[in-house]
Amino acid sequence: MRETFTKSMARNIYYGGAAFFFLIFLALTFDTVSGLSKTDNSQNLTGQVAEGKRLWEKNDCIGCHTLIGEGAYFAPELGNVFTRFGGSTEAIKAFIKSRPKNGIPNRRSMPQFNFSDEELEAIAQFLKYVDGITTARDWPPNKQG
Ligand code: HEC
Repeated sequence: MRETFTKSMARNIYYGGAAFFFLIFLALTFDTVSGLSKTDNSQNLTGQVAEGKRLWEKNDCIGCHTLIGEGAYFAPELGNVFTRFGGSTEAIKAFIKSRPKNGIPNRRSMPQFNFSDEELEAIAQFLKYVDGITTARDWPPNKQG
């Protein structure tokens, strides 16, 4: 074995390593991009969904709830509430309309927002849309939240 580490050996490691990791980088980029079409949900992105998102932001739902893991931990995750409520936008609307449920001690309660029927429909459509997003790790991990 040679005892010396020459300049050209160092150069080869430098260029070889750079080329090797650049190839890995390209392969991972290709893998990510080729998976994007599977997660594409944009054909369901209607004006109503956009309106629902606007109302979601305006009323600070995220101040209490999480949506696909992001947000506050005061109230249930809503990224899969459409599935949890049996795939029914009617059930979501009925729930939002019926709050708050007073008289249950120590229960966290959701406020009443007095939404119009159109606003309720838009919010329900937004939550349905979010439920349809294919997340990388199938988040949320279970139906409960
Ligand atoms: C002040 C905190 C707070 C805000 C703001 C809030 N919520 Fe809630 N929400 C709750 C709590 C607490 C619950 C669960 C308790 C209950 O059943 O009332 C809940 C439950 C829900 C549920 C049913 C979830 C389930 O799995 O049972 C839906 C749907 C929902 N909220 C939608 C919304 C939407 C849409 C907004 C924004 C317009 C919103 N929430 C804003 C506190 C909040």
